[in-house]
Amino acid sequence: MEDNRSKILSEVRGMVPALSGKMNGEPLVYLDNAATTQKPSQVLDFLSDAMVHSNANVHRSMYELSDRSTSLYEVAREKVRSFINAPGRENIIFTSGTTASINLVADTFCRRLKAGDEILIEGDSHHSNIVPWQLAAERNGAVVRVIPTDVMLGKGRSGRVAFEELDSMLSDRVKILALTHISNITGLVNPVGEIISKAHARGIPVLVDGAQGIVHEKVDVQAMDCDFYAFSAHKIYGATGVGILYGKTGMLESLPPYMGGGDMVETVTYQKTTYAQLPLRFEAGTPNFTGAASLSPALKFAEDLREGEVGKVLKDEEGRIISFMTEALSSDPDIEVYGTGENKAPIFTFNIKGVNAGDLAQLLDKMGVAVRSGLMCAEPLINSFGANSALRASFAPYNTLEEAQTFVKCLNRAKNMLL
Ligand SMILES: Cc1ncc(COP(=O)(O)O)c(C=O)c1O
Repeated sequence: MEDNRSKILSEVRGMVPALSGKMNGEPLVYLDNAATTQKPSQVLDFLSDAMVHSNANVHRSMYELSDRSTSLYEVAREKVRSFINAPGRENIIFTSGTTASINLVADTFCRRLKAGDEILIEGDSHHSNIVPWQLAAERNGAVVRVIPTDVMLGKGRSGRVAFEELDSMLSDRVKILALTHISNITGLVNPVGEIISKAHARGIPVLVDGAQGIVHEKVDVQAMDCDFYAFSAHKIYGATGVGILYGKTGMLESLPPYMGGGDMVETVTYQKTTYAQLPLRFEAGTPNFTGAASLSPALKFAEDLREGEVGKVLKDEEGRIISFMTEALSSDPDIEVYGTGENKAPIFTFNIKGVNAGDLAQLLDKMGVAVRSGLMCAEPLINSFGANSALRASFAPYNTLEEAQTFVKCLNRAKNMLL
């Protein structure tokens, strides 16, 4: 059994060249996967092949090379569609990232709001699911309200969003709910399906920020019944600069165009423009077509890591990593973990009392361990724990228990050097 585990782990890791690299003379232990993932050879080879053999602008020309790039782009759209079980091609909009996807919805949806209307967001939101709503609300006097965490309510320290508050917050003034599937700080998985049903019972649409959720959960947007789901290719083994916005057809059709330019139009005169059908209506200008196309091998890789014997071994490994990390961090009285409890993805954010998180990250880097420090684009949430920075170790399915053990060993060494 141990042989099988080692064999599968080393096969999976062997597909991701960066994982066998060295950093500062030590074997690299890459634990900043919530920021971005390392890429498998399938994606790297695909990108270089596409740049050589299929590089021409999409949707625009009558020659073979352009047909090839258009086909790769549209095949990737179909791959995304099937990966999240969206009903059709028109539901998948390519953007430049989760941030761009949320901005698109916030900007266009909120044009219909008026003073006093409310937008509900969560206390564990990433900045990209806070600021676009604030910008949109400022334009028409709408109000952004926050579903607090237990910490914000003074009712605990787990960092879990207190969704029981929602019943008293939902009213006719609420026009949209912007949820987080999995927090990039706490790693806690939010019960989005349940919350969506509650919101829909009152006719309120829901956007889900799936930047982390797409990596750690199997997402079926029809079963979840979200109105919008946003995620980034680079966090799920694909290229940077590519995002996805899933939207229900009726919802997308109800939004006015966002950016204007080529590809999103049907006819243009100097007086008036009519717009293309979905999904191109929201894809103005030359998209990152090669990057988007990389979602075909990237999502295939993600599927391979979830299925069959490989999927089983990696899921077991993830369980071991979560138990080990939870035990190691919670048994140290100097450490406070931000995000505790059941149903947690392998994302661990914490502080060691009296130690600067940035100093720790720098020392860990010298030992070959790459982790993130700072506010991690969630300043209000980190501040709510009484901190102004933190350290985060975030694991991907290709990480191993041995790497978690190395991390803890190095963390203790760094701690002893700094205390
Ligand atoms: C929960 C969450 N939302 C949104 C984002 C923004 O993603 P991107 O920078 O790829 O647009 C991130 C990235 O860290 C995230 O973790």
